[in-house]
Amino acid sequence: MRIWTIANQKGGVGKTTTTLALGSRLARRGFRVLLLDLDPHASMSQALGVPAEPPPAGVLELFDDTPRRIDELMRPSGVEGMHLVAGQAGLATLERRAGHRPGLGRALGQALEAVVGDHDYALLDCPPTLGLLMVNALAAADRLVIPTQTEPLAQYGLQGMLRTAAMVARSRGRPLPASILPTLFDRRTRVAVETLQAMQERFGAQVWSDAVPVDTRLRDLQHLLGPDVPESQARGVAAYNRALDWLLARDHLETWQ
Ligand SMILES: Nc1ncnc2c1ncn2[C@@H]1O[C@H](COP(=O)(O)OP(=O)(O)O)[C@@H](O)[C@H]1O
Ligand SMILES: [Mg+2]
Repeated sequence: MRIWTIANQKGGVGKTTTTLALGSRLARRGFRVLLLDLDPHASMSQALGVPAEPPPAGVLELFDDTPRRIDELMRPSGVEGMHLVAGQAGLATLERRAGHRPGLGRALGQALEAVVGDHDYALLDCPPTLGLLMVNALAAADRLVIPTQTEPLAQYGLQGMLRTAAMVARSRGRPLPASILPTLFDRRTRVAVETLQAMQERFGAQVWSDAVPVDTRLRDLQHLLGPDVPESQARGVAAYNRALDWLLARDHLETWQ
């Protein structure tokens, strides 16, 4: 199982959309996929039909004193081959309640270790805050995927994420490759085109050479999760398919280096 953590300390950059798009494309290519919703807003879970009330069992129970097993907490997502461990509002107060119990920063990684043979990919959708959940997700990750809006200010958040990833890699003694996915790209605006160019010059091979365009059809779940359709009818989904090709190629390269 490969673990991809989808994170950015900024909200509204396309993290949840990216997780759903990559997860469903992987599943439609025949991979077994497990999605974890680490965001207290639980928008990914709601998108996949898990109601917020009554609070569903999910990620929170992985942090119990006696953690539940991840395979007892996962549920079907509606896409064949893709399962979900739901997020809950209670995740917002996890840090305060859990205090400084030793080993808490590794809870997620340990939970995932128990199911390594059952899934090909685990995709972790992070909240936009650098707290216990994101630290857990980074510590467990084989790859960090950073969706980034193509606007000038976004680059500051990006540097912060890359610094955090480097810190995690150092403390666990294993590299954490980071891949930057430009999202919400509006090619008609000069500032977006220039920002994309500047990002590519600055971060080189860490940045995907393409971008996910603004495509309102990505807000339609049936379209986002559904089978591939011709690119002319699905610019956003087609872009995510290309992004997935790139990420899979990076994985291959970095694994065999
Ligand atoms: N490429 C895109 N084109 C159009 N709308 C998008 C695109 N990516 C995301 N969105 C929309 O933007 C909003 C924020 O995206 P979301 O994935 O929830 O971001 P995050 O998880 O980073 O907060 C959502 O309403 C989503 O449907
Ligand atoms: Mg989100």
